[in-house]
Parts: sequence; structure tokens; C-alpha cells
Amino acid sequence: MLVVRELSKQFGGLKAVDDLSFDVKSGTIHSIIGPNGAGKTTLVNMITGVYRVTSGEIYLKKEGEVYHKDDIEEIIHGKRENITNISMNKLVHKGVCRTFQHLEICKEMSVLENIMLGFHRFLNKNFILSCINSKKIREDEKKYEYEAIQYLKMFSLKDITYKKADSLPYGVLKKLEIIRALAAKPRLILFDEPVAGLNPKETAEISEIIKELANRGITIILVEHDMKMVMQISDKITVVNFGKKLAEGTPLEITDDENVINAYLGKRHGKA
Ligand SMILES: Nc1ncnc2c1ncn2[C@@H]1O[C@H](COP(=O)(O)OP(=O)(O)OP(=O)(O)O)[C@@H](O)[C@H]1O
Ligand SMILES: [Mg+2]
Repeated sequence: MLVVRELSKQFGGLKAVDDLSFDVKSGTIHSIIGPNGAGKTTLVNMITGVYRVTSGEIYLKKEGEVYHKDDIEEIIHGKRENITNISMNKLVHKGVCRTFQHLEICKEMSVLENIMLGFHRFLNKNFILSCINSKKIREDEKKYEYEAIQYLKMFSLKDITYKKADSLPYGVLKKLEIIRALAAKPRLILFDEPVAGLNPKETAEISEIIKELANRGITIILVEHDMKMVMQISDKITVVNFGKKLAEGTPLEITDDENVINAYLGKRHGKA
């Protein structure tokens, strides 16, 4: 789904991401782990068009392409799109969405209104048509409202559909951010610490939801410090330290990697 090649980001004298390359296979959960300040959020920010890259390239599988062989091979050999430095808004239209390490919820809006923001990918397309056809607007709104409520049911949050976001606990807002990303019907979704600050029950719920999304064919990039969760649900893990790739492999391979234990895992027992 995604190919990252020799990606770097320089902030003044600091190389936050340093010559990083990795491939993310379609429909898998690919985790990015590493110590605080390792460059994980910077990486997500470059992939999602929030930061411009200093150097390197990012490629995305073309929408609608059917791949018969190993898809990474085919992406490398041409069925790919260079998305380096593409704006976040354009990426949403290509099926790439994210959540933020620090919540980006509109607190003045209701839960439903926040989710409706996620649907703008579809609403914008018909904007001119909608301007001359108010019946169409109402129909579209109804349809998306219905879909939003289905998502709320999936997250056991239907009861708070019309509540204002600023009255809700942190754990609920984290879920709301995930729903808003899902509303854009992404092919690839990047989660930046989706369970940070959540209790074990909420963490387990979000883990289940992320697994379910992957089962439905959505590709997941997961940045997370909760090692129990990462080890349980990841297909592949890339470990980053000082902006560089330290190791890569299955959860089992990573748990046994001496460099990873020394730089990161050794200091952590389960949840950070
Ligand atoms: N906009 C910025 N301007 C300057 N330096 C930045 C900026 N964003 C990040 N950095 C620096 O880049 C390095 C990597 O930060 P980043 O937020 O990517 O780390 P992280 O791996 O996400 O850490 P954490 O696990 O704590 O979230 C840090 O040293 C940070 O201070
Ligand atoms: Mg971060």
C-alpha cells in the first residue's frame, strides 16, 4: 500500500527522521515504535502531508488497481503514485486518513457534527450540484447522518450522538477521532498513539476495532507505546531510534532483538 524511501526531516540542526525506508503491505497492521522523540510523529506528519519532507519519497498504491502478485513488487515497478509533499486534503481524497497524538476535535460541535466533518471528502465533490439542488443536500446529509450513527453503534457510542464534544471524557473523544477518520472511508489509516491515556478496557476495545478494520481490508499504520497492544495486533513492526530504522520484523522477531531491547523494550514493561 505504501512505500517510504530514504525519508528525512531536518529541523534546524536536528535530523528528526534520518534516511528511513520501509514498505507497508495492504490490509496489514504495521506498527512504528521507538523511544520518545524518535521521530514517529514527524514521520506520520510527512506521510500525511502536514510536514514537507527534507528529502526522500513516499509512494501510494494507485486507487482501484488490482494487484495479482506481491503488491510491494508491483508498486515498485510502476503501479504507484508519488505522494511526497501532497497536501493533507488531497490525501484524504486518495483514501489516506489519520488521527492525532494530541486530539484534534472541534469541542464546540456535537459528536455527530464532528463525524460529518469526516464525510467532507464526499460532500465537497458534489458542492456545485448541491448549491443548485437543496433537496440533494438534504438527502446526502441524511445518508451520511445514518452512516455516522452506524459508526457510533459500532463503537457503542450511539447514546451521545447529539452531545457537545467538550462535555465528553477523553476516552470517548479518542474514539470520536477514529470515527471521523473512518467516515472518509480510508484505504490507509495512520493512528498516532490511539490508546495513550486510555484505561485497559478502552485500550482493549480500540485494539479490537483496529483489528476489525484490518480484517475489512483497511491498511493500518500504528504508532503506539503500549507494547502489549502492539505485540498482540501487529503484523509487522518497524523500530525507530534517533530518526533511523533500528530493526524491523514480526512481533516475535522484535521482542528478541537485542538492539531493540537495549534501546527501547528493556525499559518498558507493558504499558508506557
Ligand atoms: N515542528 C518541530 N520543530 C522542531 N523540532 C521538532 C518539531 N517536531 C518535532 N520536533 C523534534 O523532532 C524530534 C522527533 O519528534 P517526534 O514528535 O517526531 O517524536 P515521537 O517519536 O513522536 O515522540 P513521542 O513518542 O514522544 O510522541 C524531537 O526531538 C522533537 O523535539
Ligand atoms: Mg509522537
